[in-house]
Amino acid sequence: MKIFKTLLILLTSVVFANAQQKNELALIPQPSSIKLGNSFFKFNKQTSLLLPKGNEHTELIKSFSAQLSAILQQDLKPNRKTTGKNFIQFSLSKDLGEEAYQLKVTKQKIEISAAKPAGWFYGWQTLIQMTRLNLQNGKALQIPEVSITDEPKFAWRGLMIDVSRHFFEKEVLKRYIDQMAKYKFNVLHLHLTDNQGWRVEIKQLPKLTSIGAWRVPRTGYWSGMSAPEPEEKATYGGYYSQEDIKDLVNYAKKRFVDVVPEVDLPGHSLALVASYPEISCTKTPQQVLAGDPWNAKRTNVVCVGNDSTYTKIEQIINELAQIFPSKYIHIGGDEVTRNYWSNCKVCQQRIQDEGLKNVDELQSYFINRVARIVKSKGKTPIGWYETLEKGLDTGIVQMSWKDEKGAVKSSNQGQKVILTPAFLTYLDFYQGDPYLENAPFTVNRLSNSYKFNPLPEGINVKNVLGGQGSLWTEQVPNERKLQFMTWPRGFILAENLWSTATKTSWPNFLKKIETHLPLLTLDSTNYSNYFYDPIVSARKDDSGDAVLIIDTEVPDLTVYYSFDDTDPDQFYPKYKGQAIAIPKGAKNIRMVSYRGNTLKSRIVKLPIAELKKRAKL
Ligand code: ACM
Ligand code: ZN
Repeated sequence: MKIFKTLLILLTSVVFANAQQKNELALIPQPSSIKLGNSFFKFNKQTSLLLPKGNEHTELIKSFSAQLSAILQQDLKPNRKTTGKNFIQFSLSKDLGEEAYQLKVTKQKIEISAAKPAGWFYGWQTLIQMTRLNLQNGKALQIPEVSITDEPKFAWRGLMIDVSRHFFEKEVLKRYIDQMAKYKFNVLHLHLTDNQGWRVEIKQLPKLTSIGAWRVPRTGYWSGMSAPEPEEKATYGGYYSQEDIKDLVNYAKKRFVDVVPEVDLPGHSLALVASYPEISCTKTPQQVLAGDPWNAKRTNVVCVGNDSTYTKIEQIINELAQIFPSKYIHIGGDEVTRNYWSNCKVCQQRIQDEGLKNVDELQSYFINRVARIVKSKGKTPIGWYETLEKGLDTGIVQMSWKDEKGAVKSSNQGQKVILTPAFLTYLDFYQGDPYLENAPFTVNRLSNSYKFNPLPEGINVKNVLGGQGSLWTEQVPNERKLQFMTWPRGFILAENLWSTATKTSWPNFLKKIETHLPLLTLDSTNYSNYFYDPIVSARKDDSGDAVLIIDTEVPDLTVYYSFDDTDPDQFYPKYKGQAIAIPKGAKNIRMVSYRGNTLKSRIVKLPIAELKKRAKL
């Protein structure tokens, strides 16, 4: 009997351990609470989807049905049956928050409860994710019994795309939105204007798109792009017509994504100035650029003294307010070269007339005035956080980008804030060694981006709307690269911005990330696997010689290396954790990582001279 009891305990603990393993479910973002049962809901040909009462939500449920039908490879027709089993049901639960949901999977049925359609949508995303994570040989057979309660931590869970430096067609953005929605992002911030292109039709100012949307084609390193040749045609570019925007916004709305437009003013405005040179202080003709204007001394700032500048801005904002239903309009405000204003009579006159001290205060004046225009259209202005002496209207949402300090300061001054600290959330920063990339930008490796905390010390929590990842596209010329820069860092952003669950450790989250990569592949979405790269640095050893240290972001990898300019594999010397001496005459180190016998990284080749230079040796 005793033996039987012991066996029973052993057996139960094995079953329990299995359930525990499954308990992680690998969902991204991690729901607030998960209670796993022991049985399963099995999908079969009879599985059905129940429409909720009334017709209001039929379209939404039909879109769910189409999505699941594709995964199950069967035609799942919504119906109104209310009894029996083997169905998916949507119910109302009035006490839940706007985006909250409960998902209950039992042997008999699946039930998603929410107060609002947004909650159903997010419950549905969780269900779909569970289903896709449980595919067996590509087939959805069953999902585990579970009870999930979930709601987001922040209202603003965003990704930004700069569509100015490179233009991305509407269909690219739709595919991007599809992926966003799967991970419960709800804001797509479009950086629509910059020095390199104006991307939205403004009917009252047609030159913005006939001239401002086009530049000469250039390929290669952003920092060294050559100026347009005389008579060279501006053939690279594009823009969204107002019909495109309406279509895009409608598409996004069905996926509970708000599209927030940005026009970046008064700096970053070369495309605007090239279209209407009279808007600048110098009024000199300009061309939209490929590459950076700072090298080419272009006037990329508008004249803020001239009233006619505000007339044009009002025309722009008026049309944006009509085509973007979002509550927000972003007015930029970052990185302004103020010396044009110092040399402009009209700007100087404005300083006098308004009793301002200097051009810094003139910038505050401009931003506050444009913000008032935005508010007059019933919208809330957002601006990139800049330290401005005279300060800004408290009604302007501050998007804190250089670091978190702007958010901490503004939130305590009563302003709403959105966090996108560059060194943790910028998606244009490299995921691997910068030496292997094509511009002198900096690095934001996957494990580094995991450190993002949208509620840094000292912040006034009640003023935090949320945060976002921001993808500047100087070095992002196509859709595959757009995806590559977003994923898998997007998983981390989704986790940080949605999940109220206690953050687990980096190695644990990494396991989840690896579980999700095949889902990106299933969706033909590109991602970076540079997080498998060996990371090498030089230092001096005790005798003063330069030695190399190798590290990895992923704990369970083995690194193999060579100094003889041949490509290493798992039969090459293994890095054993100690500093390695550099053989005489070695020009490069080449490294590769493996997990067991499985190749995980690309071959990372770095010059010894570069490593010594970095270490100042
Ligand atoms: C920015 O990165 N200039 C907002
Ligand atoms: Zn001026």
